[in-house]
Amino acid sequence: MTRRAMRIRRVRSGVLALLLLVCAGCSDPDRAILASLDEPSAARFRRGRDAAGPCWVCHDLAGTVKKVGPSLLGLYGRPAGRAPDYNASPAIRASGIVWDDATLAAFLTDPAGSVPGNRMVYPGLRDAAALADLLFYLRHVTRPGARDGVAP
Ligand code: HEC
Repeated sequence: MTRRAMRIRRVRSGVLALLLLVCAGCSDPDRAILASLDEPSAARFRRGRDAAGPCWVCHDLAGTVKKVGPSLLGLYGRPAGRAPDYNASPAIRASGIVWDDATLAAFLTDPAGSVPGNRMVYPGLRDAAALADLLFYLRHVTRPGARDGVAP
């Protein structure tokens, strides 16, 4: 192989590696949100995302209900039990709650105690720091159109 051919080949594999690197970020649905945050906030967002892991067993952010719980898309500012296409329990519908950081904190700390008779089978998140990070994350990802994708 000539030296020129070797050089071309090296450049070509370099370009390929760069493309692969760029596209590794393509699949992260939170890319746009993370890019808009400063580093401490991005770290907080990531901690909240980790804390939210168990939620996606029963919820999604797609806006269409495919799991046992309602979609959390558009959660902030919405009255409890009014997620589209979801048949919520009478208990949560009658609670009078409108979701914001304070009402979510009370509910997620103790779902059964704060809204007796609701159907969310989850023991509650008692760690105040983890809860604050979770709410920070939820506030961003539940905003319609904020994410690049719909996963989870
Ligand atoms: C085992 C399944 C399950 C898990 C895990 C779970 N949920 Fe739920 N969640 C539900 C169900 C079912 C409901 C509907 C309750 C009702 O109608 O009484 C619900 C309701 C809610 C609501 C009220 C929604 C509305 O529109 O009024 C919020 C908010 C919520 N969950 C957030 C969370 C978060 C955040 C997590 C993780 C920390 C979580 N849930 C974990 C099953 C679950």
